Amino acid sequence: MALKLTLMALASLPLAQSETVLGVYIFHRHGDRTPKSYPPANLTSLGAEEVLLSGTYYRNRYIASDASSPIAGLSHDIAVQSQVSVTVPDDAVLHNSAQVFVQGLYPPVGRLSAQELANGTSVEAPLGGYQYVPVKAASSSSGSSSTRADAENNEWLQGGSGCGNAMVSSNNYFASSEYQKTYSDSKAFYQSLLPVISGTFDAAEANFKNGYTIFDLINVARIHNKTIPSSDLLTPETVAEVQNLANIHEWNLAYNETEPIRAIAGSVLAGQILQQLQSTLDSKSKSPLDIQFGAYASFSSFFGLAQLQKLSADFTGIVDYASSMAFELVTNSTSSPVSKDDVSVRFLFSNGTAGAVGNVPVAYPLFGRSEILLPWSVFADEMNKFAIGDTKSWCTACGNSTGQCAQYASSGDNGSATAASKSGNGISTAVAGVIGALVTLVVILGIEGLVYVLAGLRLVKKSSLAAQATKVEVPGASKA
Ligand SMILES: *[C@@H]1O[C@H](CO)[C@@H](O)[C@H](O)[C@H]1NC(C)=O
Ligand SMILES: *[C@@H]1O[C@H](CO)[C@@H](O)[C@H](O)[C@H]1NC(C)=O
Ligand SMILES: *[C@@H]1O[C@H](CO)[C@@H](O)[C@H](O)[C@H]1NC(C)=O
Ligand SMILES: *[C@@H]1O[C@H](CO)[C@@H](O)[C@H](O)[C@H]1NC(C)=O
Ligand SMILES: *[C@@H]1O[C@H](CO)[C@@H](O)[C@H](O)[C@H]1NC(C)=O
Ligand SMILES: *[C@@H]1O[C@H](CO)[C@@H](O)[C@H](O)[C@H]1NC(C)=O
Ligand SMILES: *[C@@H]1O[C@H](CO)[C@@H](O)[C@H](O)[C@H]1NC(C)=O
Ligand SMILES: *[C@@H]1O[C@H](CO)[C@@H](O)[C@H](O)[C@H]1NC(C)=O
Repeated sequence: MALKLTLMALASLPLAQSETVLGVYIFHRHGDRTPKSYPPANLTSLGAEEVLLSGTYYRNRYIASDASSPIAGLSHDIAVQSQVSVTVPDDAVLHNSAQVFVQGLYPPVGRLSAQELANGTSVEAPLGGYQYVPVKAASSSSGSSSTRADAENNEWLQGGSGCGNAMVSSNNYFASSEYQKTYSDSKAFYQSLLPVISGTFDAAEANFKNGYTIFDLINVARIHNKTIPSSDLLTPETVAEVQNLANIHEWNLAYNETEPIRAIAGSVLAGQILQQLQSTLDSKSKSPLDIQFGAYASFSSFFGLAQLQKLSADFTGIVDYASSMAFELVTNSTSSPVSKDDVSVRFLFSNGTAGAVGNVPVAYPLFGRSEILLPWSVFADEMNKFAIGDTKSWCTACGNSTGQCAQYASSGDNGSATAASKSGNGISTAVAGVIGALVTLVVILGIEGLVYVLAGLRLVKKSSLAAQATKVEVPGASKA
């Protein structure tokens, strides 16, 4: 189908500009917030400033009339609802972040909002021409953008929440010898932090099991609290070690090379990115700019699946507040319609606020490859190796058979041949293969578990571990 909008926009571009951005998918973390230890967490004023600045950065990159990489056909100043789609999980900090972010994309337009009434009076929109860009909750959308298929109507799309096999896999981490070792090696270290954290954690809680929440508390305190008790204990080395341990904890919950189901949040995100870019490419979508706010754990899961940790171990670290990653669909072709063969994808990541001093998104090669620009077909093939793009595949991979998954449980389908035949949005056979392998793995793990039970082995150990890991920690919206 012809990319008419693209060509119209091309005609108005300066001649020197050869590359056209056809569409962009942005995944974004919230800004600075209050600590997780004192729920509900709230976005702070600093956090709002961060996401506003990031929104302004992306406006100057993709939207403004003098944008550095304008998205073809996008309205410059007046937000057009059908062109920008913003989704968030059901989480107040993420929701507020998204609302402020879109103010950076489309700030108030003042006199541009003026409308003349029948009697000749001119009326400007309130708050200086404030623009209302809808932010859709991922679970309760009416699904106005039909190209996103079931994407917005399904609870399961909220990150990794509720995926049975992923919960089992993440909990396997707490039962692993690595976890045990880090736990005991760091025990004295955490106890030494008690003078700083004792207002929130008691001696029994000051350990690696709470590695993330302890890091979070100290991180928030260092930003907001002028009078941290025993703050002299927080030397640069100690602060770095607190973060390092939290990174180890969270990375292992978000991704594991031998148990890819653990990274379900990244698989689901990959499915959403693929479907959206695909529909932009097919000109089925009028919304070339798609933005989703989500948890740091989804970044980590995606990084692992896309093998970014092999490029740099930095990718195993928790991303900073207001971090973002962008997937640009670009072409140098001027023909109409643009052939898919002429379209490439560029991945960019900003650790922390894009546009903050010294911080702009950097392009990285994905999937263990060396090229920054990947032909669309290669990108799609690589993503399809781990993307999960529909409810049925999710249910199969997660081993869930109740609730929304009940309809697939009785179909006699064991998941080994789940290649969805749904045109366009169906998952590839490659994904089906991965899912099949996962299912096999899960069966094997299940049998192992049964053997242990029958043999009476490890039961004591397991229950004592269970006591340590009372809270099921799964990457998902709750880990924002
Ligand atoms: C967040 O805001 C709510 C409501 O305004 C408040 O009750 C809560 O204490 C705040 N949380 C923190 C950690 O300040
Ligand atoms: C014009 O119409 C608006 C809305 O009905 C009203 O508020 C305003 O007073 C009117 N102006 C004049 C000059 O009549
Ligand atoms: C999937 O199964 C797990 C384990 O049985 C359960 O805890 C979870 O709520 C289920 N998720 C959904 C979305 O039904
Ligand atoms: C994957 O997880 C298992 C269990 O949690 C662990 O034993 C294994 O070492 C992990 N693999 C990697 C590569 O981290
Ligand atoms: C912040 O400072 C107050 C004292 O002003 C202290 O009671 C509180 O524990 C501190 N919070 C953290 C997380 O350090
Ligand atoms: C992002 O920054 C944090 C430190 O603030 C670091 O731990 C992490 O490794 C960084 N990630 C990347 C990809 O650079
Ligand atoms: C477009 O051409 C420029 C200049 O040759 C090149 O740097 C860029 O990578 C090309 N982009 C695509 C998408 O091929
Ligand atoms: C599903 O797989 C299990 C174990 O491989 C097998 O026992 C069962 O019969 C299969 N069910 C169907 C409907 O194929």
